[in-house]
Amino acid sequence: MKIVIQNGTIVTDHDIYKADILVEKGKIAAIGNNFTGEQIKKIDAAGKYVMPGAVDVHTHIDLQAGSYHTSDNFFTGTRAALCGGTTTIVEHLAFGPKNCPLQYQIDKYKVAAKDNAVSDYGLHGVIQHVDADVLRDMGKIVAKGIPSFKIYMTYDFALTDAEILRVLKRGRELHAVVAVHCENDSIINYLRSKFVAENKKTPYYHALSRPAECEAEAVARVLRLAHMAGDAPIYIVHLSTARGLAAVRAARAEGQKNIYAETCPQYLLLDEKCYNKNDGIKYIMSPPLRSAADQTALWAGLADGSINTVATDHCPFSTADKLHGKDDFSQCPNGAPGIEERVMAMFSAGVVEKKMTLNKFVETLCTSPACIYGLYPRKGVLLPGSDADIMIIDGAGEEYFHIDNLHGLADYSLYEGKKVKGRMDTVIRRGEIVYTDGKFLGRKGTGLFIERRIGL
Ligand code: URP
Ligand code: ZN
Ligand code: ZN
Repeated sequence: MKIVIQNGTIVTDHDIYKADILVEKGKIAAIGNNFTGEQIKKIDAAGKYVMPGAVDVHTHIDLQAGSYHTSDNFFTGTRAALCGGTTTIVEHLAFGPKNCPLQYQIDKYKVAAKDNAVSDYGLHGVIQHVDADVLRDMGKIVAKGIPSFKIYMTYDFALTDAEILRVLKRGRELHAVVAVHCENDSIINYLRSKFVAENKKTPYYHALSRPAECEAEAVARVLRLAHMAGDAPIYIVHLSTARGLAAVRAARAEGQKNIYAETCPQYLLLDEKCYNKNDGIKYIMSPPLRSAADQTALWAGLADGSINTVATDHCPFSTADKLHGKDDFSQCPNGAPGIEERVMAMFSAGVVEKKMTLNKFVETLCTSPACIYGLYPRKGVLLPGSDADIMIIDGAGEEYFHIDNLHGLADYSLYEGKKVKGRMDTVIRRGEIVYTDGKFLGRKGTGLFIERRIGL
């Protein structure tokens, strides 16, 4: 079916203008005026913003973490993504068994996603140990359209500095981006054990066991390693602190290239006081929520381009699972939902409250993530020839985040009860209307695996 989106205001990362969009065979066929003809479905977007479908490059939809499993599967997680305006995700694969080959998790994920996903999706390979086989297999995986890898500086599969350096060098050779969770593992383990031994086990001690310095030190260290690897492309995930951001700026100021930084709505919109609420356990995630001063710094970092993207780190565990940590924060699975709330939460807090421009909103939620991770120009942009992934936002509307209105399987929202300004009106994925009037219309299993290529 052909669709024409009429009378809307098109917003890109650098432009705002009035025009109509003709969609044909899943692609944007043309942008202009006066598209006529039979068999054209018309969508009137008068008074609304027409933007590229959002891209979320940091999700853990289907993750086994120890004995816990995230609430979502590829159908429900990507359904929630679509209803929130996100038409493409890039999933961080879960850990496999110790010493498993890189390909192991990719095979598992392709099965989990195929016949289930409704948004389009890519995968990041996760490197949990480093040896000659892993370094060789990075090349095979890049050749299969997975030109990005995730590594951790903390948790059970934390890599050593030497291992990180080897991965970064190999990433550079392959034109692959290495995404890094930056926290100082040794200090965190020391603080966690100390607090538990002192019987300081309420959720607030989760935050105290992972101080800002742990992030800032790890960010600075990994950026040095990337520099030693010849300015290897590096992407700092879920940046949460002013000090971590300062480390990013310092490395760039010294002339280091190929540095990208991401933050997430929770670090912009929620702060460490949440850990003192009765349900503080629900906010346990790593890195933890921070101070109001950190939030201010992150907003400034987005506005001045120091932070490139806003992704979710969607990692939903059920309330019952989270409650395993109610008497001891260290027993709580880390992570929280947010895949559906991201776009409208950022529209309201960012655009409506004038902390970011409309262009910056599109840049950080749609275009930059697509560019950094090799999805552009197929995704993240409104151009003739691009996939017709489009969200239409009614800036004058309102949304109310309540678990019954959301489309994933998470049983709580970090933003429960919050009213936001602006409303997701319609979402189109490759030319198919998948969300409108508050209803999901997509068909299970129609999401495509997107092969990505990064040209640096
Ligand atoms: O607490 C979090 N963020 N869990 C998900 C895994 C990660 O660290 O990104
Ligand atoms: Zn992480
Ligand atoms: Zn994550």
